[in-house]
Amino acid sequence: MPAIAIIGAQWGDEGKGKATDLLGSRVDYVVKFNGGNNAGHTVVIGDEKYALHLLPSGILTPGCTPVIGNGVVVDIDVLFEEIDGLEARGVDTSLLRVSASAHVIPDYNRSLDKVTERFLGSRRIGTTGRGIGPTYADKMNRIGIRVQDLFDEKILAQKVEGALDLKSQVLAKIYNRRAPSVEQTVEELLTHAERLRPYVCDTGLLLNQALDRSETVLLEAGQATLLDVDHGTYPFVTSSSATAGGACTGSGIPPTRLDQVIGIVKAYTTRVGEGPFPTELHDDAGEHLRTTGAEFGTTTGRPRRCGWYDAVIARYAARVNGVTDFVLTKLDVLTGLERVPVCVAYDVDGVRHDEMPVNQSDFHHAVPVYEYLPGWQEDISGARSLADLPANARTYVTAVEEMSGARISAIGVGPKRDETVVVHELV
Ligand code: GDP
Ligand code: IMO
Ligand code: MG
Repeated sequence: MPAIAIIGAQWGDEGKGKATDLLGSRVDYVVKFNGGNNAGHTVVIGDEKYALHLLPSGILTPGCTPVIGNGVVVDIDVLFEEIDGLEARGVDTSLLRVSASAHVIPDYNRSLDKVTERFLGSRRIGTTGRGIGPTYADKMNRIGIRVQDLFDEKILAQKVEGALDLKSQVLAKIYNRRAPSVEQTVEELLTHAERLRPYVCDTGLLLNQALDRSETVLLEAGQATLLDVDHGTYPFVTSSSATAGGACTGSGIPPTRLDQVIGIVKAYTTRVGEGPFPTELHDDAGEHLRTTGAEFGTTTGRPRRCGWYDAVIARYAARVNGVTDFVLTKLDVLTGLERVPVCVAYDVDGVRHDEMPVNQSDFHHAVPVYEYLPGWQEDISGARSLADLPANARTYVTAVEEMSGARISAIGVGPKRDETVVVHELV
């Protein structure tokens, strides 16, 4: 009766969507447990390409039940846009279940996300502007609106009024914006309520009962370890728990039922938005990774910042999440390099750090200590087993595995479902 978590080991966009889709046919449930439509997962099946934001990637596997857990923040308009888009392409979304305790993103929080970023100027986070941060802040502040509130109009109006008491002042007096009225907000939130109703249930109960029946549950993270609100590069993080601990709180599945944690790690590193990134490249090498790896955001289209593999953060992710297996993605993107640098430690003011520095300011000026591994020139996209990889690519995989604190069980050699080298079966 396994519950398995898939988490991002870097700053997001590691290829979690592809990995989840790959395992989809072998699991009964795929659960999104954190974040919202800030996520962007591209999944390629045959010649079809899907960009998912709010729906778990398991939605693409017939028979697999996709679940939006209590830890997610839901933009209801986006939810139905995504459902309609998939239905139009012949994907059955009827099995979807949505937690009654998930929070919803009201329009005022989308406005606040955008104006706050503008207000912060050079101190901005570079958010996706989807209202994610303000909605999690409301949740912690106990002024959030939950999915279940949409089915009790009186309560909904009371809660919106309570939240707007404060927020309309902030919008008007600090940001010089007109705040929406209570009625307008309630009306907007209720637009799709009846359509949403059949999907809503106690997803924690549903999932635990599934585990009792020995069914398999896959918990799919949005964002990643270094974007986690507790364990990431705060304040340059998202506002949810994207790590394995968050998989439990965000789904209602207890830690004792989680028996595998799969860390998704790219063969190099990318980051979108602001914040420290020790191995970032500002030269042609970075441009080469961005072009070859098609590193442009699925959600905002922003060019992703690119840099070499950082084994210090991979080890950190292995520790924070208890990673049992890594999936090393996009190895094909490194093909054609003469040598491949890998960051093994940091130099901070002349002192070597093998672990993440305690202080964020040290991380901001950490200088990577590189080891250089020999490159390979052969096309590896057709490789399906380790033996198919050229010797230098195998050396890279082995070296990265030794540095990163968990075994590498699968290797991505292309965006398509089957463009994968399986080293150890994952489910
Ligand atoms: P996620 O947010 O972690 O799900 O990752 P994204 O979907 O945002 O970004 C990963 C991108 O890399 C997507 O466009 C995938 O189709 C693509 N991708 C995933 N695995 C591989 C791989 O092994 N090789 C290549 N070339 N592309 C990959
Ligand atoms: P997936 O699931 C990469 C980043 C934003 C910004 C910070 C805060 O596709 O890996 P937010 O809108 O969440 O308040 O923004 O987090 N960010 C991501 N970066 N991949 C993501 O998701 C991200 N989701 C948020 O760029 O720096
Ligand atoms: Mg992404």
